[in-house]
Amino acid sequence: MSKIGLFFGTETGTTRLIAKKIHKLLGDEIAAKPVNVNRTAPADFLQYDRFILGVPSYGEGALPGAKAGCLESNWEEFLKELKKVDLTGKRIALFGLGAQERYADTFASSMRPLYEKLKEYGAEIVGDWSIEGYQFNHSDAVENGRFVGLVIDQRTQGMLTEERLQAWVEQIKPLLLK
Ligand SMILES: Cc1cc2nc3c(=O)[nH]c(=O)nc-3n(C[C@H](O)[C@H](O)[C@H](O)COP(=O)(O)O)c2cc1C
Repeated sequence: MSKIGLFFGTETGTTRLIAKKIHKLLGDEIAAKPVNVNRTAPADFLQYDRFILGVPSYGEGALPGAKAGCLESNWEEFLKELKKVDLTGKRIALFGLGAQERYADTFASSMRPLYEKLKEYGAEIVGDWSIEGYQFNHSDAVENGRFVGLVIDQRTQGMLTEERLQAWVEQIKPLLLK
């Protein structure tokens, strides 16, 4: 069985930190070492069938990339390259970083464009997450009353991160090992 591909974008390292924690929880047998999407060629990405992808929120919920003022976490550029491919049959769990107090109107909203694009390319998205326990006005990452993936807020709720990660990893593990 091939491993789960673990990729992230990051500006200031928080999403990398969370990706590393997820890797540790799953173990090296199950998940590949986390890789910055900036340093990933589409061919390396596409060797996997199962993924965990991490995205921080910037630019009022735009997909992080040069246009949103993000020089490091350029998911936008990577997805443009990926566009030539079909992600049918690929199963993906998403996690997003955000700051609910400061960005209450766009909380974790950058997950949305990533979610939409991946679905448009044919991927199946798993691992949605309850909005309970978070305080915000609006998030584009909410669909049918739930976040489209795990949301982590290290700035305001860092003390909840470990338990959220553990619960989410247990939830997605059987889905990504199928
Ligand atoms: C300029 C700027 C814009 C941000 N915009 C948002 C936002 O729209 N929504 C949100 O939830 N968080 C926003 N954040 C918070 C970041 O997403 C959060 O700090 C995240 O942990 C950063 O992850 P990184 O260290 O991997 O880049 C913003 C932070 C900065 C500095």
